Amino acid sequence: MRLVKVIFIVLLLAFPAVGAYPVPERGVVYQVMVDRFYDGNQSNNGPFYDPEHRNYRLYWGGDLEGLTENLDYIASLGVSMIWVSPLNDNINKMAHGSAPYHGYWTRDYKRIEEHFGTWKDFLKLVEEAKKRGICIIVDYVPNHSNPAMDGEFGSLYDNGTKITDYFEDTKNASVNPITGIREEVYHHNGNIFIWSGIQLKYANLYGLADFNQLNPWVDSYLTEGARLFIENGACGLRIDAVKHMELGWLESFYLRLYSERPLFIYGEYYTPSPGKSDDLYEFYRYSNVSPVLNIPIRADIVKTFGFVGSLETLSAQLGDYYSRFLYPNKQLNFLDSHDLIRFLNGARREDAVERFHMALALTMTLPGIPVIYYGDESYLVSRDGKGDPYNRPMMVFNNTTEAARIIRTLAKLRKTNDALAFGDFRTVYANYSVWAFERTFGAHRLLVVMNKGSPAELSINLDWPDGTYADVLYGAEMVVENGKATVELPRNSFYVFHIEREQEGPLIGSLTPYTARPGQEILIAGAGFGSGGRVTIGGVEARVLSWNSTEILVEVPSTKTGKAWLDVVVETGGKVSNVAKLRYYSGNGVPALIALNASLVNLSRANLWIKGNLSELAEPRPLLKSSTGYYFTVAPLPKGASFSVELYEGPYWGELRPLGVKLYGFVNSTVVVLREEPHATETAPAMPTTTVVQGPIGENPLPYLLAALLLLGAALIIWKKRG
Ligand code: NOJ
Ligand code: CA
Ligand code: CA
Repeated sequence: MRLVKVIFIVLLLAFPAVGAYPVPERGVVYQVMVDRFYDGNQSNNGPFYDPEHRNYRLYWGGDLEGLTENLDYIASLGVSMIWVSPLNDNINKMAHGSAPYHGYWTRDYKRIEEHFGTWKDFLKLVEEAKKRGICIIVDYVPNHSNPAMDGEFGSLYDNGTKITDYFEDTKNASVNPITGIREEVYHHNGNIFIWSGIQLKYANLYGLADFNQLNPWVDSYLTEGARLFIENGACGLRIDAVKHMELGWLESFYLRLYSERPLFIYGEYYTPSPGKSDDLYEFYRYSNVSPVLNIPIRADIVKTFGFVGSLETLSAQLGDYYSRFLYPNKQLNFLDSHDLIRFLNGARREDAVERFHMALALTMTLPGIPVIYYGDESYLVSRDGKGDPYNRPMMVFNNTTEAARIIRTLAKLRKTNDALAFGDFRTVYANYSVWAFERTFGAHRLLVVMNKGSPAELSINLDWPDGTYADVLYGAEMVVENGKATVELPRNSFYVFHIEREQEGPLIGSLTPYTARPGQEILIAGAGFGSGGRVTIGGVEARVLSWNSTEILVEVPSTKTGKAWLDVVVETGGKVSNVAKLRYYSGNGVPALIALNASLVNLSRANLWIKGNLSELAEPRPLLKSSTGYYFTVAPLPKGASFSVELYEGPYWGELRPLGVKLYGFVNSTVVVLREEPHATETAPAMPTTTVVQGPIGENPLPYLLAALLLLGAALIIWKKRG
């Protein structure tokens, strides 16, 4: 009996249960600015503390203990993730007339800011949140440390030991021959004044000391810092300012973190409107490194509900936006944030609160994971001003409001209706003030209807079964008869109708994360998975770690492919699922600078791209042009790999034209200079590298242990029977 118990425990350890990791799309995020939430420990409030809460640029006392104390309140809203503002140790001085109460001026990525608490407090927060079905997402800031020319001048510490500051670093800095950037721990290239090209990633963002992530020490320091949060139980990270870092470095950084467990990492790519000059869509669509906050559509939503605007136009804008993403449901929608004016602080309308309710409900029903900014539920506004820092007033707790009820109701529905979590997006009808959209995921359906104008009767074609449907928010009725749906819509109404039926056959809704390398665990979420079956990734069977009808945990196999995207397919009960796409990396990668000497190939073109025969290079990557005569990019490349790339020309938006130039690379260091000839040791054209050293078995002794235990058990039983 004891042996059986031991085997059971080993099995549990070896194979984490599904449900052990959250499915982000089925949840709602609650965003908290820690300093402004709740003061749970008055002994950590100073210095730079304003007990009166008048000076918005000082600390107001909020901390991790205060957040933990209020978890029941947060849980009462039905949310399942809390995004906390940056927790790392910030500078101990004022800069630009402000204390770093917001947490974005880090000086030590291994420590917790003393105003907010300790690692012990963080762990307690994680554990207490977990008891309430909530996990913690930490805001992490790897682009920059703190102001270079004020405060502590970019001072940087490694768990208490001073490493450098911006001035000291200048003395050690040298010019990188490939990028032309003066660098050491930091980049020394002045402030960003051209918001594109090299400056965007290699200069200081508003004077903040910009990290040189390709410096191996910086790379591992920033990774270790992030890992501390993961090891202490965070389920994800919100990465600050991703627009200002090399995509290839982010890919490598994320993959290293994902090797811990399936995490939810999303980025802040700040761009207020989806202008075509921005590289946002191509950047993410091609690589799909990370979900992002849906910043570009937020202004359209606020304008349409808080001011004036047509719902028909909005529906087209949103449809266009979502169509650019492979996984629109993994992006994040929000109405308010710490960077933008709160809706209720901005809207100038008599019916602003009603419109706020509508806009809130909309962000919770559109494709994407909803983020509720602290105090949205209690109509928190500031009388002292509007934008940053006034969008960060002290929290007012009230979960009995209509806004709180909307949040709670839709968060609950999201857990049971997969059309909210994974559904598609189709406008059924739209005019200036009335809009109906449908979302479908297999046997789960959702119809959202709203009217911001005079009372109207909506009659639309809808292929739902005949019957009377009750809206989840207000109990309004919709009658469906012979494919026609009719619903009465008073002014400022917002209704959500839904169907949940049994899903027959497997249907994949999401992968978490959707980027992976061999040996990494990914969580497949969806419906109709039954109790067992088979998963293939790129045609290769994946090791199943656990399985239930809505979630499967698998280990990504190694495959000999040069493709960027692999098909993920679930088979169960003789049925085969839809195909989900996994961004595949062959593994064992290091962030490498790939360079092309412009004179070598006699090129003087503006928009050059490379596309190569490794998974890592199989999506086109744009090259930057340096002042030193090179074109370059960064990509995670497997050590020891030989590869070839083709050159292309073209804009971010539009067709790429092959230039008929083939170049070769060999990864023997973190700088790969492309050449016209294949690497000398090569006898044949470069093959995709699939020699993965860190396969699951090699890394994880548990399967061996388990096999040994099973053998031992069998031997014992035989021995006992014989005896
Ligand atoms: C974006 C953050 O959201 C903002 O609050 C911060 O000041 C900047 N990044 C710089 O870290
Ligand atoms: Ca405090
Ligand atoms: Ca940068």
